[in-house]
Amino acid sequence: ALVRREDYTAPAWWVRSVDLTFDLDPAKTIVASKLAIERNTERPAEPLRLDGEGLNLLRVLVDGQSVSFRHEDGQLVIDAPAADAFVLEIRNTVCPEKNTELSGLYTSGGGFFTQCEAQGFRRITYFFDRPDVMAIYTVTLRADKAKYPVLLSNGNLAEQGSLDNGRHFARWNDPFPKPCYLFALVAADLVAREQRVTSRAGKDHLLQVFVRRGDLDKTEHAMNSLVASLVWDEARFKLPLDLERFMIVAVEDFNMGAMENKGLNLFNTKYVLASPATATDTDYSLIESVVGHEYFHNWTGNRITCRDWFQLSLKEGLTVFRDQEFSQDMAGSPSARGVKRIDDVRTLRQIQFPEDAGPMSHPVRPDSYVAIDNFYTATVYEKGSEVVRMMQTLVGRGGFERGITEYFRRHDGQAVTCDAFAQSIADVNPASPLNAQLEAFKRWYSQSGTPKVTARGTAADGTWTLTLAQDFGAPQGVTSPVERQPFVIPVRVALFTRDGRPVPLKLEGDAEAAPSERVLVLSQAEATYRFLDVPADVVPSVLRDFSAPVLLDDGLTDADRLVLLAHDTDPVNRWEAGQRLALSQLVAAITGDGTLALNDAYVDAMRAVLRDPSLDPAFKELVLTPPSEAYVSEQLTVPVDPQRVHAVCQQMQDQLAARLHDDWLAAWDANQISEGYSPDGAQSARRALANLALAMLVRDAARSGDSVWPGKAYQRFKDAGNMTDRLGALGALVGAHSELATPALARFHELFQNEALVVDKWFGLQARASEKDGRVFAKVKALLQHPDFSMHNPNRVRSLLLALCNGNPAAFHRPDAKGYVFWAEKVVELDAINPQVASRLARALDRWRNLAEPYRGAAREAIARVAAKTDLSPDVREVVDRALKD
Ligand code: ARG
Ligand code: ZN
Repeated sequence: ALVRREDYTAPAWWVRSVDLTFDLDPAKTIVASKLAIERNTERPAEPLRLDGEGLNLLRVLVDGQSVSFRHEDGQLVIDAPAADAFVLEIRNTVCPEKNTELSGLYTSGGGFFTQCEAQGFRRITYFFDRPDVMAIYTVTLRADKAKYPVLLSNGNLAEQGSLDNGRHFARWNDPFPKPCYLFALVAADLVAREQRVTSRAGKDHLLQVFVRRGDLDKTEHAMNSLVASLVWDEARFKLPLDLERFMIVAVEDFNMGAMENKGLNLFNTKYVLASPATATDTDYSLIESVVGHEYFHNWTGNRITCRDWFQLSLKEGLTVFRDQEFSQDMAGSPSARGVKRIDDVRTLRQIQFPEDAGPMSHPVRPDSYVAIDNFYTATVYEKGSEVVRMMQTLVGRGGFERGITEYFRRHDGQAVTCDAFAQSIADVNPASPLNAQLEAFKRWYSQSGTPKVTARGTAADGTWTLTLAQDFGAPQGVTSPVERQPFVIPVRVALFTRDGRPVPLKLEGDAEAAPSERVLVLSQAEATYRFLDVPADVVPSVLRDFSAPVLLDDGLTDADRLVLLAHDTDPVNRWEAGQRLALSQLVAAITGDGTLALNDAYVDAMRAVLRDPSLDPAFKELVLTPPSEAYVSEQLTVPVDPQRVHAVCQQMQDQLAARLHDDWLAAWDANQISEGYSPDGAQSARRALANLALAMLVRDAARSGDSVWPGKAYQRFKDAGNMTDRLGALGALVGAHSELATPALARFHELFQNEALVVDKWFGLQARASEKDGRVFAKVKALLQHPDFSMHNPNRVRSLLLALCNGNPAAFHRPDAKGYVFWAEKVVELDAINPQVASRLARALDRWRNLAEPYRGAAREAIARVAAKTDLSPDVREVVDRALKD
């Protein structure tokens, strides 16, 4: 059933306190719940309706007396509760070991774990499963002591001890009122790394990272990241840790990345465990940002939570913004900050832009949903973060920090809406353009789709005139209930002379000193800005630092872009200049005769970047990495033939490999590391560039028939002292279809067969390998039969099935349609096990309408085949129905 934002009503009942007792058993866990309930006197009297899903109900008591109740629409209904305040006692059982959906209480690796966001609590016991009902929790866990020596829940440990029959118990108290989606429990055989820290205010805290026995040596980085998160949030936003104890628990079977349960964060092992031998530099930085993200939720999400799930971006957009800022601050140098920003921009454009142009397009604050889990999206998270970032741009960094303080002054302890957040930021910045245009700015929350901005500059008599225009029309297939209106778009601009000198920006009628960069705020369909004393021939750098989540048409020529690539002081636009130069050649070849010949100016510019001793190697790696096939496909205005896109992109890689051969060689030599491994920015930057160089050298060897570089790569693969270099070398062999790839893959598996996260990499590398004659697709099908593959572990499914269908267009989109047939089969199979993960796989064909024939027709047919099933989960149902809707 469709749930609508406009139908929100406040709850008819409040829960003041929750007392839960769990008798844990994998086959039959008994849950006893005691709720202190009060009528919401601001609402008319209503029956009590509690959510419940898949529960076995044993009894219901009101103030100790049995009471009549009924079941209706999956809810437990008590028509006439005796009083305005009473104690409701419920006893039910659940079966954790059969919970393959991994929502609610489930078992993993012999332990008990929970995931309640968004609607998992109702799979544990009957409750008002909505975020605006907040209560104080006391939780008692009872379990076998030998099998489950560690018993955890939210808050502080109040009591623990032994029971009969080899069982024991622990009682936990969480002093902060919370919605049920933040409840968590863990009962398992775990060990913890511990650290005590003292906050600025002088308070002591115990930090713990719990993992399975044997994984303790992989927890140092997570702990360091947690300590850094604490320090950062206190320093940047004056937000301290509010609990005596803060726990992180790693679990192998987990639907998402991690979960911010109050005081007891649960993490996918992928975002906790790291050692130089098993984790790459990328893993290390992901761990840092996810640990930060969940920790930052303690304020932005937990202390102030969402009134309803339509407000999800209130906590997710803001918390992504905070984790991005944290990672940038941790990166340190301006160039390392730039590299992180480019990474974030790339993710947004590769994932969120297509989402917003396809059947799942929705506003940052959605208006309706069938399955809320489908709306944990790049739009709510990443675009939501950009909306927060634009607010910071419009009020300044200091103004934004004051706004955050005001937000907590007003709303601490409440469940609120996105409006409340924007209002707090605007109100304490009365002179800001945000405050002046708050209602218009908030269209970023209500209007879906990516606006297009056109920028055109003209010079005459020392005046440079810039015209900015926006197309704020609806994305395809979206009909908006109200007429769409212009967005408020901060456009960061600079000007350069052709030899790369910045030009002061003196706006007509502005008395102040002329800065070298300005933020123009475009809030109408079109606006014109006149800059004085500008030399005749200049190149504009528009949308610097990606100041708004828009598509930009800047009308620049290749010659202009070469100027920016050589001189722009903004890393994002400097990188973007190179990407656009690559893109225009790729698009011309794809829409032309399918052959690419890179122009000399471009190759020379790439060489200059590669050879520039002043540039950060991580930045070079980004510039020298051409746009992905998926990104290129999104830029085409003709129907997409994924095989043709692949062929042209391969030509580009081959030519970069061949024509820059000596430069790759120099880059490889210059970026070898003799010191011991550290995941820090400086070392990982050099490894990133060295690995790209190696991949290019091996690729070129495949063309020239030389066997030296494949041999060197194999040697590096064998001798590497860390996973980044080992996987880099393996990837180079696999990517070039070298003969040595097969023995290397076998050896890799043998070495790491007991390291689940590394086995994921092994599957992933094969599923993402550059397609050649259908080999990759065949390999993935064979790997489904591998004893290490399982449809029950989300990481494994992502590493094989999502890697193929979402991450390898040329292997997936086959002219014989076998990729789509395979996809349909797997979506249906997975849906019966885990709808949340199945629904992510279902989205692999979101962009089917953009495909050329025969792909388009075959893709439609495959989606229709899934949609024809009558017993789909609401999650997959919503995705395929939206995909087929005209
Ligand atoms: N709140 C978590 C995070 O972003 C995500 C949990 C989402 N889980 C889900 N099943 N939809 O940190
Ligand atoms: Zn989050």
